[in-house]
Amino acid sequence: MPEFTPAEVQSLKASYDEAGQGHVFTYFDSLALPEQKAFFEQLQKIDPARVNKLRELALNPPKEDGEAVLEPLPDSANASILDSKPEDIQRWYDLGLELIGKGEVAVVLLAGGQGTRLGSKAPKGCFDIQLPSHKSLFQIQAERIIKVQKLAAERAADPAKAVIPWFIMTSGPTRGPTEKFFKKERLDELTDEENDNRAKGEPYFGLDPANVTIFEQGVLPCITNDGKFMLASKDKVAVAPDGNGGLYKALQDEGVLDKMRASIKHVHAYCVDNSLAKVADPVFIGFAAEKKVKIATEVVRKRDAQESVGLILQKNGRPDVVEYSEIDEATRQALDPKQPTILKFRAANIVNHYYSFAYLDSMGDAVNRLPPHIARKKIPYFDVDTGAAVADVKAPNGIKLEQFVFDNFKWLDLPEFACFEVRREEEFSPLKNADPARAADGSFAKPPEDSPTTSRKHIKEQGRRWAEAAGATVDNGDADGGLEVSPLTSYGGEGLESFKGQVISQLTI
Ligand code: UTP
Repeated sequence: MPEFTPAEVQSLKASYDEAGQGHVFTYFDSLALPEQKAFFEQLQKIDPARVNKLRELALNPPKEDGEAVLEPLPDSANASILDSKPEDIQRWYDLGLELIGKGEVAVVLLAGGQGTRLGSKAPKGCFDIQLPSHKSLFQIQAERIIKVQKLAAERAADPAKAVIPWFIMTSGPTRGPTEKFFKKERLDELTDEENDNRAKGEPYFGLDPANVTIFEQGVLPCITNDGKFMLASKDKVAVAPDGNGGLYKALQDEGVLDKMRASIKHVHAYCVDNSLAKVADPVFIGFAAEKKVKIATEVVRKRDAQESVGLILQKNGRPDVVEYSEIDEATRQALDPKQPTILKFRAANIVNHYYSFAYLDSMGDAVNRLPPHIARKKIPYFDVDTGAAVADVKAPNGIKLEQFVFDNFKWLDLPEFACFEVRREEEFSPLKNADPARAADGSFAKPPEDSPTTSRKHIKEQGRRWAEAAGATVDNGDADGGLEVSPLTSYGGEGLESFKGQVISQLTI
């Protein structure tokens, strides 16, 4: 029995016709019942009029009146770990741990991206950056949560409450493999050796599965340059994840806010590909909670005027993110009048955010108003006119619409927003690009920035710094000259006192 009536099909078709997208039904009547059912379900989930509107908005964004006035955020909205007083940092850390200890902090992981530049078949979080332990990014992050929970429990009035629920946003392509990976099931995307390495250890990396929620962001249809929804096959619209800005809608649609509502007051959101992400960082959470802001964002200092990163600043008196290409050379080069040796606009966006739960819970319909961005891509498709699939697309033939998770900053007033500068070498090393393939003679070309090689190196350099700061000497012959410190040993360099005066000869502690 079909789970739809002819009248329902007619009404759905009418909504697509009205939006100029009726062609998606071309083959509907010729499909077998199970395919019709699945296709009907997919089409029902898409609102063609909304998608048309998003496309229109992306192609013709509202014009801004006059020239934008850009300024760094005011001092009242800024703090930097580089020049904060030690007692301030300690107070934020204590407050952050206290909130974690009361069970008021949740973590949201953005892991719906397809990692095309990295070229990994499995989701990025499953990636092995070739640390001595072969831990995946997911495992490293899980262990950081375990450790910080423990640090909070040691001080909590009721240690059982020191639990950080972890909400992992995946997308159509990443959900299945992510779920399997957490359960330690084998992934078709990985080789046997990779599967063997990654299946080691406990399911959920030792976290209680009850505290890990894997949910799925939405998708948007891929659209031809003429504005028509593309088909992937006779019975499927070609879709792509709606960008990391799909987070806000997914938090509502997937019941995440409902799950958080009883106890969560503070949310830390970060990207799966930041190898150094301090998951649930107590200092950052304490800073933002003390300021009582709706959103806070972590930034690192821009390396130099030419580093191509988005900047956190105020634009026409509101917090905002401005992309590298949107500012002129003079603005890029401008120096800070108060500290003339450093750039005036230096707060590089690393997509690492604090939200008050109350803010996320109050967004309502605003989640649909995030301005979409256009990515022109080569998209394999099913040609409705010829009835043939086209897999090998040579030039960009359509657009994907993506929302960005930071595009709501500008909706806030300045006092509702804060920015926290952290040390790049301690907190930010993104995994974006693939290492070069090994040449026939076994040699490697120089790996690009933001590659597995740089991620591994940065983690090991950090470990070495921590060990040396604790008074140890590292002499382990490591190829990168570093030391892998397990997050279970130390979250942020603490707890290494027992190594004082010792020579560490292991690759991992
Ligand atoms: P990127 O924009 O770097 O995309 O994502 P990506 O998919 O990881 O890599 P490329 O561009 O295809 O090479 C930044 C963060 O946003 C998440 C990613 O998982 C990453 O943590 N993201 C991106 C989502 O959660 N959903 C999306 O639709 C896109």
